[in-house]
Amino acid sequence: MEQELGKGWTEGVHADDLDHCLEVYGNSFNARQPFTMEYRLRRNDGEYRWLLDNGTPRFASDGAFLGYIGSCIGITERKLAEEKFRLVIDAAPNAMIMVDSAGVISFANAPAATVFGYSLSELIGRHIETLIPERFRDRHAGYRKGFLSQPSSRAMGAGRDLFGRRKDGSEFPVEVGLNPIHTTEGLFVLASVIDITARKQAELEHERQNIELVRVGRVAVMGELAASLAHEVNNPIGAIVANASAGERLLAAGKIGTEEMAELLADIVADGRRAGEIVQGIRTMVRKGKARRSLVQINDTIDSLLRIVRAEALGRNVTVTTEVDSDAGQVWGDPVQLLQVFLNLAMNAFEAMTALPSNALCLVIRADRNENGDVLVRVRDSGNGFPSGLAEQLFEPFFSTKAEGTGMGLAIARSIIEAHGGTISAENFDGGGACFTVRLPQAKEDNSQAA
Ligand SMILES: Nc1ncnc2c1ncn2[C@@H]1O[C@H](COP(=O)(O)OP(=O)(O)OP(=O)(O)O)[C@@H](O)[C@H]1O
Ligand SMILES: [Mg+2]
Repeated sequence: MEQELGKGWTEGVHADDLDHCLEVYGNSFNARQPFTMEYRLRRNDGEYRWLLDNGTPRFASDGAFLGYIGSCIGITERKLAEEKFRLVIDAAPNAMIMVDSAGVISFANAPAATVFGYSLSELIGRHIETLIPERFRDRHAGYRKGFLSQPSSRAMGAGRDLFGRRKDGSEFPVEVGLNPIHTTEGLFVLASVIDITARKQAELEHERQNIELVRVGRVAVMGELAASLAHEVNNPIGAIVANASAGERLLAAGKIGTEEMAELLADIVADGRRAGEIVQGIRTMVRKGKARRSLVQINDTIDSLLRIVRAEALGRNVTVTTEVDSDAGQVWGDPVQLLQVFLNLAMNAFEAMTALPSNALCLVIRADRNENGDVLVRVRDSGNGFPSGLAEQLFEPFFSTKAEGTGMGLAIARSIIEAHGGTISAENFDGGGACFTVRLPQAKEDNSQAA
């Protein structure tokens, strides 16, 4: 063979390329086939240059083999460019895989081998679809054709979850960028593949934490609900127990007539109903059910309030005054909830005057309208007021300055009033005492706000 090629030729071929050249040439020669090969050949000045060597067998007219006729083209520039390309791709931190138009991997870098669990030489020449889980292969072939017909740099599978398949058959989530590369040998696709297992896990963890947060939030809300239920139901239950014990005492002393007894029982029934309605209201709130709404005459609500606090005021020596404008108007709302609000304000007022001399205890309830026609209800006491600068904090759940306080009264009041489209605020009065103002939108006569 060496004779055929000429001794001088093998001496000039780069040692790294010689085996390959001899193999290609030997096989082609024996089969009398054309060949093509790339190798480095030493120039006279000692420098190696890349050659593309093509050979075609020549035959005499009688079919006798005459030898090869061929051409050698210098491809050093192309080879250098290729090498640069390889260096860049090899240095890339991401897995890079170059695929020809038939889907065969023609080049891959070291990270690609690591990510997919193959050796580099196993990757080259492999079909790209073997790196994809089986269930996606058919579709992938279609997508690949689509890309080749309209090649442009873009992310692969926008909106789809993509997966790679390792040599051992395991799968992992990937993100893939595609770039078309036009070469003299045709269109190639350079794919950069990122293993996003860690990111997906972080996302999952983030989601799990969010769910946990929502759950914790719900528990906190449940805590508030339990507190508000206890707070609101406490008042009617207290009244029921007080009325029932009074009845017992009067009966035992033989001092009660049927009429008085009937009145006590009527109060007990009314308070029992109120407790039931409060519970119902909170259940509706929890279930996000439709709130009960009707036209409420604000004067009626204040009358109910006075009836409920009458005994408490008497027991505490508090003078209750009302300044109610007969034209205070009506609001569209839940009568039980509105009564709850004013009752909370009145109870706070009583409690604010606990330690004061009995001649100075007064509670003033005013109802009128402001210039916009909104309903204004003010509940004012003659206590010591609240620490200045705390006017907003008072409304926060669990804010209380009382030993036995739950701090839910004003928080409930505010959430009810805001659900009615109104506002509630607190201020201290110059002459002493605190004043709470509730503003509610005036209801129109037609039930247009019913929806
Ligand atoms: N009329 C008032 N005068 C002075 N301070 C008040 C008055 N009303 C409320 N406050 C202050 O606002 C705080 C919060 O009131 P809120 O009704 O929300 O809870 P609480 O009255 O402390 O507890 P609970 O309502 O369970 O008895 C009170 O602890 C008190 O410091
Ligand atoms: Mg209170």
